[in-house]
Amino acid sequence: MPFTIAIDGPAASGKGTIARALASHFGFRHLDTGLLYRAVGAKGGDPVAAAQNLGPDDLTRDDLRTAEAGQAASRVAAIPEVRAALTEFQRRFARSEPGAVLDGRDIGTVICPQAEVKLYVTASDEVRAKRRAIELDADVDRILTELRERDARDAARDVAPMRPAADAVLLDTSTLSIEQAIALAIEHAKRAGA
Ligand code: DC
Repeated sequence: MPFTIAIDGPAASGKGTIARALASHFGFRHLDTGLLYRAVGAKGGDPVAAAQNLGPDDLTRDDLRTAEAGQAASRVAAIPEVRAALTEFQRRFARSEPGAVLDGRDIGTVICPQAEVKLYVTASDEVRAKRRAIELDADVDRILTELRERDARDAARDVAPMRPAADAVLLDTSTLSIEQAIALAIEHAKRAGA
């Protein structure tokens, strides 16, 4: 049976870094599910059609990491038909042998409610904005506003809102180094049988 690790949390919480490190540590495949929504938002036109026809080329565009692409992703992610079109691909990926790590907003709650490991990664708004501002070489106040707006939309939507699963372990990375956060996540996954 494949082993699934579900990692959710708000933007720039560190979940992507932790997900990649877990995948590499355990030899699992990794899927950044935010990239799917970013690709749908970036494609333009009808978002439902874009989600239904998403291909590998859409995921390698070099403009998917921008703050604008994040906002567009958050908007199309509130459309139930967009989420439905992307569900099966994510669930199939989650069954990869010998295991898979998926990071997003609804992995532990909707996509993989049976995941062996569920982490909900958070950090204070200010810490997250600072990290993202350094990463994108952008103004920290603008990024802080953007993150708050995006988190509010992601948490308030009717379908698959961002929230921790009842059985998720919370990992606040505000005062942790990357190495400390990764070590805690690996320790937890090992205890759960990874
Ligand atoms: O993880 P990210 O910042 O790349 O995600 C971009 C947006 O996509 C995020 O603001 C909300 C949406 N998203 C989602 O609704 N569900 C997911 N599993 C992943 C991302």
